[in-house]
Amino acid sequence: MHVPEGFRDAGPTLRALAAARGLRIGAAVNVQALRDDADYRAVLAAEFNAVTAENAMKFAPFQPERGIFRFDDADELVSFAEAHGMTVRGHTLAWHETLPSWLTEADHTPGELLDILHTHIQTVVDHFRGRVFAWDVVNEAVAEDGSYRDTFWHRHAGPRFVDLAFQWAREADPDARLFYNDFQGEGSGHRAKTIYRFVKRLRARGVPIDGVGLQMHLRADRPPNRRHIVRAVKRFASLGLETHITELDVRVPVPADWLVLDRQASVYGDVFSAATASPGCTNVVLWGFTDRYSWIPHRFEDWGAALPFDDSYRPKPAYAAIATELGKRNSQ
Ligand code: XIL
Repeated sequence: MHVPEGFRDAGPTLRALAAARGLRIGAAVNVQALRDDADYRAVLAAEFNAVTAENAMKFAPFQPERGIFRFDDADELVSFAEAHGMTVRGHTLAWHETLPSWLTEADHTPGELLDILHTHIQTVVDHFRGRVFAWDVVNEAVAEDGSYRDTFWHRHAGPRFVDLAFQWAREADPDARLFYNDFQGEGSGHRAKTIYRFVKRLRARGVPIDGVGLQMHLRADRPPNRRHIVRAVKRFASLGLETHITELDVRVPVPADWLVLDRQASVYGDVFSAATASPGCTNVVLWGFTDRYSWIPHRFEDWGAALPFDDSYRPKPAYAAIATELGKRNSQ
């Protein structure tokens, strides 16, 4: 396979370092880039042993019209992953964003909406049965105060959608690991507590959940404390839940200078140090891997450069920091 010029020095790849300690290191994949950009494919396959679809497995791309399912993009990604020995996380079944207008603009009753969600989950999870090892079943459903967040599914279908989504996913693929995924589940703030309580209640009422996803879209100037990440994983483990870090990126103000990129590297290092010290955390997925394709500049004005490869696929200080942590022995 062609490898882009200047792409990394000699030494083990991130995926080799991760595999040596039984970890998966993944990246969210932009399917258009996977198709069009040979350098993107080469670096992805060389450095990572897990993938998530950045958008291709969301509701609207899967079901652009009611009852019409399109799997081409996601199938392409799953085939790529299988050809390169990578696992696939499915993202995401019940979320309030990336919904098609046929769904959001019509006047469905709660019963109809639950039927639609049921059919969606059944069809999608069944299609990828045995090929997607973990699903983010419900994404971002908790409000600041620990109650249900006021979003499309909650408002129009009612709170039952959460428990039902997990049950339907379990029925469609009993072997897939089922995750609740959210942001700020790891810090010292309020959301870490409320997310913990939310999944604890799910467990208490017998909802089939196996794990919690910590998104971790971080800012280099306000990182979570390493100890808090370790503590969050421990708490989830005490409920019998595993933890995946699912969407890690560390944004910086742009244009970024070396000082800022070093600061970013130490944040990446801390997160990987926490993950490698936590037996409950076996997967760390970055939300992309190259600054060439990242959602950050589109979402946060004046921020960017959030990933460990720059937009020419040159490894940044963050890359070295991740490799160092993954290569350390006895960090437990
Ligand atoms: C983002 C994608 O990166 C963007 O390309 C898209 O326009 C919007 O969604 N939390 C999530 C992800 O769970 O699905 C989001 O991904 C980022 C925030």
